[in-house]
Amino acid sequence: MRIIRTKDYEDMSRKAANIIGALVVTKPDCVLGLATGSSPIGTYRNLVEGYKNGDLDFSQVKSVNLDEYKGLPKENEQSYFYFMNDNFFKHVNIDPANTHLPDGTEPDSEKACSEYDKVIASMGGVDLQLLGLGHDGHIGFNEPNDEFDKETHCVDLTQMTIEANKRFFDSIDDVPKQAYTMGIATIMRAKTVLMVVSGEDKAQILKDAFFGPIKPEVPASILQLHPNFILVADEAALSLVD
Ligand code: GLP
Repeated sequence: MRIIRTKDYEDMSRKAANIIGALVVTKPDCVLGLATGSSPIGTYRNLVEGYKNGDLDFSQVKSVNLDEYKGLPKENEQSYFYFMNDNFFKHVNIDPANTHLPDGTEPDSEKACSEYDKVIASMGGVDLQLLGLGHDGHIGFNEPNDEFDKETHCVDLTQMTIEANKRFFDSIDDVPKQAYTMGIATIMRAKTVLMVVSGEDKAQILKDAFFGPIKPEVPASILQLHPNFILVADEAALSLVD
């Protein structure tokens, strides 16, 4: 595990984008595993800037996202499809046909998940997986106590996650209770895993995940075993370690 300590959110976002940008330059047809949430928004902003100033070309890049709410159609503003388009895809020259998310509108969970696993396999795996960190230690939507060895599956979101995500919805009743997520097994197969963490409210879970025991109650802790895990975190998020 490599830890890159940054001054603040902006600094974190720039450094994470530089790591992704370096891959896009050296391997123009790379497969990027992408994430949603507020943590990677700044990273996407910097990648968009890299595209606009001519440094980055996404024309051959392929992407697979971690997760999608079950039941939300693409045009719903809270769907992760909408988020990705709004924050990243529509601002760069990535081919929409090369971008993938689980199909939230497929009611048959097994079908939605096995089809997504096929998509990931058809790309030959993920070169770099970007991740945020949930307050309960989840990655993607792999909630505590989930098993470590799963592929894409349907999860029941924990109350903590529903609470954390309600800020994006009109009311808590509108927050979907289930999601399709890439499993930990898939995430661990990515050649590089890059996590961005910012803010004091993440300090305790960051400490538990990366400076404590590896256990399914803290899903992100498994990343301690990944051979190429890079954690880019700001001072506030790292305030309980050292
Ligand atoms: C959601 C996403 C995760 C993300 C987490 C943290 O639950 N499914 O992929 O890492 O939120 O979000 P934030 O970065 O907004 O704290």
